Amino acid sequence: MKKIKLIKPDDMHLHLRDAIYLKQTVPDAAKRFARAIIMPNLKPPVTSLSAVMAYKQRILAEVPEGTYFEPLMTLYLTEEMTPEIIREGRASGLVSAAKLYPAGVTTNAESGVKSIERMMPIFREMEACGLLLLVHGETSDPTIDIFDREKIFLEELSKLVAACPNLRIVLEHITTRDAVDFVISHPKNMAATITVHHLLLNRNDLLSGGVKPHYYCLPILKRQVHQQALITAAISGDPRFFLGTDSAPHAISQKECASGCAGIYSAHAAIELYAQVFEAHNALDKLENFASRYGAAFYGLPENKEIITLVKRPWRVPKHMIFGEASLVPLYADQEIGWSLATDLEE
Ligand code: NCD
Ligand code: ZN
Repeated sequence: MKKIKLIKPDDMHLHLRDAIYLKQTVPDAAKRFARAIIMPNLKPPVTSLSAVMAYKQRILAEVPEGTYFEPLMTLYLTEEMTPEIIREGRASGLVSAAKLYPAGVTTNAESGVKSIERMMPIFREMEACGLLLLVHGETSDPTIDIFDREKIFLEELSKLVAACPNLRIVLEHITTRDAVDFVISHPKNMAATITVHHLLLNRNDLLSGGVKPHYYCLPILKRQVHQQALITAAISGDPRFFLGTDSAPHAISQKECASGCAGIYSAHAAIELYAQVFEAHNALDKLENFASRYGAAFYGLPENKEIITLVKRPWRVPKHMIFGEASLVPLYADQEIGWSLATDLEE
């Protein structure tokens, strides 16, 4: 049977939510990933070091016994953020990065940033102390077409890069050829995460033959040419592109309704699905660097010591999964995935 061994990967963009939801999300992620960058868009958002510390403890409490999993914590940038919090977060080692959500662009981004200009003292501090900036790269201008919001945002981002040339930036969950080109054309201090759903799907999957609320996420799925550009970047062996699932669970009732939430749950099968994509493009040999090395290198982290084994044995994703007091529809629900984790086969 075909097998591949990988250094246990890192998920450089993950939403675990909070409270009872951690009982599902943490074990799913910890099975596949040694570390994950934890998104701070809770309600209320994680804006202080005490909130970061408490959230980290709640996550660690749900890591199954015998499993190593390190949540790498982030601060949510609001216009009330202070340079002192940034400096202290960095110096204490508690915070791995700070996240910029343009106000209102996505789930729980209402407290995000309205004016990048006003945030310059924060970005200068991050540049000086070496704290990474993670960017949800979409403009918050509601008059811009939803399919163009990433591309238009890149203009704003260029200004920030020009003003803070030593600021290290991760452009999160890129979805367009424009974003790939942007990263490539800013070789210094710039990287990007790529989700598995943006590699697997394009906007036809979302909108053709019936609208699929479980494929609705932000940034929204784009045309096939953009999907192709992301695949090319992911399998290129360029260390600036690395794994970040953006697994973002919502209960079924929040997805299947008149105004459904954005977010796709992929933590239950993320590395298996990335393996499927890389295999389909004859690039399985590129998977380990993308999943386990490049992200760690950009974040200045050592390689993980553990190894995981993926086995070419198909399994069917359940139709529903438990999500706190509710349930959710996971990515690839009721469909077969070609790769299994060896640990799942032993159970
Ligand atoms: C994320 C969520 O639900 O928290 N949703 C999504 O569609 N990706 C937020 C985000 O990363 O945009
Ligand atoms: Zn996200």
